[in-house]
Amino acid sequence: MPTPASTAAEQLPARTAAVWAALDPVIGAGTPLRVLDVGGGSGMFAVPLAQLGHDVTVVDPSADALATLGRRAGTAGVGERVRGLQGDGDLLHEVLPTAGGDGYDLALCHFVLEVVDDPAVTLREIAGALRPGGQVSVATANRAGAVLARALSGHPVEALGLLDDRKGDRRRFDPAGLLTLVEGAGLRPGPWRGVSVVADLLDAASGADPSAVRALELALAGISPYRDVATGLHVLAARA
Ligand SMILES: C[S@@+](CC[C@H](N)C(=O)[O-])C[C@H]1O[C@@H](n2cnc3c(N)ncnc32)[C@H](O)[C@@H]1O
Repeated sequence: MPTPASTAAEQLPARTAAVWAALDPVIGAGTPLRVLDVGGGSGMFAVPLAQLGHDVTVVDPSADALATLGRRAGTAGVGERVRGLQGDGDLLHEVLPTAGGDGYDLALCHFVLEVVDDPAVTLREIAGALRPGGQVSVATANRAGAVLARALSGHPVEALGLLDDRKGDRRRFDPAGLLTLVEGAGLRPGPWRGVSVVADLLDAASGADPSAVRALELALAGISPYRDVATGLHVLAARA
């Protein structure tokens, strides 16, 4: 089975390089996995995972996103390995009454905890859908990264407002808060990393070589102070 670290990652956006690298030992082990992508939207992760041979179930409340997912999976020739279900992350047990079977090997929860009703409930639902030993990949917006990005784009007042938890259009997280949330769902987190330390700050017209940006992302993702100001946070956690 090809792994993202080898060929596919070269075609994936540099901003998510660190997430794919963290997933690589799980998804590139040569065994087809049952993957649950909560809030998977139009399939930015689901379709490449299906192309790697995995069976992916996407749960998302957006009918439009699921329609795009279906089209994208069909175009990529993996329609049979991608299933879209309309539903909410905090009600997974209703959406997946029997579909979990023995439980999923891997769940993705990428940039969804910002918008669900209660992130703690969503993570508990995801933990309940995993098989024992199954893993969940959690990515969220990073408050520090949002403050910095807003300030650098010329909006100091809004940047200052984002320092306050209650302000802003959606939830944002800091590393300690995210790890506490993950542990509260009965999951064992590994080390956390930054998602897009520099890629989102680069002007598209900068002309920077994408493979050099990808290499830089991989080098910076796991170390402070760089990861602390990334656009997003990512952690892989396992169900006991
Ligand atoms: C920012 S997008 C992230 C999409 C994808 N996970 C990614 O990383 O590219 C947020 C997604 O969460 C979905 N969403 C919104 N509310 C949700 C809920 N309560 N449960 C699950 N997904 C939800 C949206 O429809 C959207 O597809």
